[in-house]
Amino acid sequence: MGKEVVRRLGKRSLKVIVDVRDFPKGIRLKTEFQHENLHIDILELDIANPVSIFSAVAFVEKQYGRIDILVNNAGVLLDKGVSTLDSKESTIRETLETNFFGAFEPFSVNQEPSGKFFHDKKEISW
Ligand SMILES: NC(=O)c1ccc[n+]([C@@H]2O[C@H](COP(=O)([O-])OP(=O)(O)OC[C@H]3O[C@@H](n4cnc5c(N)ncnc54)[C@H](OP(=O)(O)O)[C@@H]3O)[C@@H](O)[C@H]2O)c1
Repeated sequence: MGKEVVRRLGKRSLKVIVDVRDFPKGIRLKTEFQHENLHIDILELDIANPVSIFSAVAFVEKQYGRIDILVNNAGVLLDKGVSTLDSKESTIRETLETNFFGAFEPFSVNQEPSGKFFHDKKEISW
């Protein structure tokens, strides 16, 4: 789903910065989009790691000036097929780090007052 979001934003001539955990994977994605004549920038980010979020936001603000739209596509389903009642506590915590805290952490470091944040197709403004 993230790739399609990138594609559609890129086609609207927006500067798209794609955050990835695995940088080489990001470079492969960049090459793939180049074949479609879409130019994206790649940035390493682990949304479950507050230090990683802080440095990524700081880098983007320094390099690009501001973030107008933040699309949170990152999500994990670590216990697929397992009943919630049977999930391990460590798995639940790991899931919450990405799916819950990871979705809101960027708010605490982004100072831009008029940005837009998209999470699972829902828009929240701040
Ligand atoms: N597919 C559905 O039916 C559906 C329905 C409702 C909601 N959603 C939500 O829509 C989003 C995309 O779904 P999808 O099906 O396209 O899932 P997907 O293919 O698994 O994509 C999820 C992406 O999140 C990235 N990610 C996971 N943990 C991360 C972390 N800690 N830091 C940075 N990136 C991280 C993954 O990166 P890696 O490539 O490094 O693993 C992957 O690129 C998810 O948030 C999902 O919960 C999906």
